[in-house]
Amino acid sequence: MSTFTATPFAGKTYGVTVRNLTKKFGPVTVLKDVSLDVRPGEIFCLMGPSGSGKSVLLKHIAGLELPTSGEVRIGDFDAADPATRDQVHLALVFQAGALFNSLSVYDNLALYPREHRLCNEAGIRERVMRALSILSLEKAAKKFPSELSGGMKKRVAIARALVMEPQLLIYDEPTSELDPVMGATISEIIATLREQMAVTSIVVTHDRDLALSIADRISIIMEGRIRATGVAADFRAPADRDIADFLSPVIDLKNPRFKQLEQNHE
Ligand SMILES: Nc1ncnc2c1ncn2[C@@H]1O[C@H](COP(=O)(O)OP(=O)(O)O)[C@@H](O)[C@H]1O
Ligand SMILES: [Mg+2]
Repeated sequence: MSTFTATPFAGKTYGVTVRNLTKKFGPVTVLKDVSLDVRPGEIFCLMGPSGSGKSVLLKHIAGLELPTSGEVRIGDFDAADPATRDQVHLALVFQAGALFNSLSVYDNLALYPREHRLCNEAGIRERVMRALSILSLEKAAKKFPSELSGGMKKRVAIARALVMEPQLLIYDEPTSELDPVMGATISEIIATLREQMAVTSIVVTHDRDLALSIADRISIIMEGRIRATGVAADFRAPADRDIADFLSPVIDLKNPRFKQLEQNHE
């Protein structure tokens, strides 16, 4: 019955290649000649200020936006080709979680496989319960999203992605709005899933602790351009002033940023 040929534990892993990707929305160029390589099975963190183009880049990898020029490949497949979604199991964990409030946790997780008739109810149950158990959420199956804490909602959102048996897992700001301990928990989950499932993981994050502790490699994007790519150690004390200021901003009451912004814009 199942149309999947791979399971997350035995599936293929894919790298992602972005080559000279430029994206314009009308007159505005949001991504400027972006190139990067995500290696199969690695945790790749993409960091950068708000509005720098991170989510737009993720959407190109997921095939939800098309390049103005350049290309994105997942393994040998063109991310812009709708047929790629039949070849590569890709799952997105969105910033807001996007759970349906009227559905129980179980039914939220079962929604996609039911709608796409991926397997029968017994198969769906197996997948859903396995995803919940990987995230220690079995007891939450019958709960509704309104009964969950913020951290649990994020875990459910990740569990929902696991039901798709992903070979490529894309997280957009998975620890935003979480307290530091919950943020650390999510970091541990991302690293554990990669270990258990050999899943290529792309994580957009502002969370310096997450990136420096679990990323194999990190890219910094600023104003639509890749500013630097390296391993975590390269970003502990970066020489680039803008990167240092982004990762570890110093609060300077003698020369506050909001006053500088005012001068720059007027
Ligand atoms: N569909 C769209 N149409 C027009 N502009 C967009 C669209 N999506 C994103 N943008 C713009 O592209 C820029 C980068 O957005 P985004 O990738 O969401 O930033 P972030 O790095 O915070 O995720 C922003 O200025 C945003 O307003
Ligand atoms: Mg974003």
